[in-house]
Amino acid sequence: MREKMVAGNWKMHGSLVDNKQLLDEVAAGVDGLKEARLAVCVPYPYLSSVQDALRSTNIAWGAQNVSQYEKGAYTGEVSTSMLKDFECRYVIVGHSERRTLFGENNTIVAEKYLAAQRAGITPILCVGETLEQREAGTTERVIEDQLTAVIRLAGIDSLSQAVVAYEPIWAIGTGKTASPQQAQDVHSFIRTGIANENASIARELAILYGGSVKANNAPELFAMPDIDGGLIGGASLIASEFIAICRALH
Ligand code: G3H
Repeated sequence: MREKMVAGNWKMHGSLVDNKQLLDEVAAGVDGLKEARLAVCVPYPYLSSVQDALRSTNIAWGAQNVSQYEKGAYTGEVSTSMLKDFECRYVIVGHSERRTLFGENNTIVAEKYLAAQRAGITPILCVGETLEQREAGTTERVIEDQLTAVIRLAGIDSLSQAVVAYEPIWAIGTGKTASPQQAQDVHSFIRTGIANENASIARELAILYGGSVKANNAPELFAMPDIDGGLIGGASLIASEFIAICRALH
């Protein structure tokens, strides 16, 4: 059976003081939850302190972005080997905020995904459509294009070392969640498409839902057959919410 997962994406939030309090509370609240993968993806400057805070807990940590380049004159970039120095297990690639605000296209995202995997870091690959694309009926085509770019570059087998997150852009930070059935339909589309190329990889792949997941809607989302957990933005910054979402997996 594929492993379920909840990952927090702190985005550009936090401070040394706030992070410590949040992580102390979350670690205590999820202590003993063993059947799922739990993680937080934090801003780069906090990786060292988060590593110290989580080392002896059941919560893994990771980053929210990484360079596709290994090293060199790339001012402002952070490489996979730097993330490895801080024992990052995960890195988010292709988050819609990176795609829309920072110009990351499918090719760049695929390169970042491959770079992460080559370094032994599990990419959490985000895919999702805008409201206009949904209303135009192109959701499936958009997601297929996003996945195909990755599969072309890294190969279908690479998905055995990856997590996919479906995040409809219209549901991110808006309080508008996709209904469990809307999300399930896209998750099922993703899994079926992958199964057409490799059934066992599709069966084992964790596909997370992201977009205004809260403690009160997580149970019904996570109850859907192809939703294997969540990528949590705003609610990952509130200990009680994040703990309840992690517990909703069990
Ligand atoms: O990566 C997380 C998603 O962008 C969801 O964010 O839970 O604040 O809507 P949100």
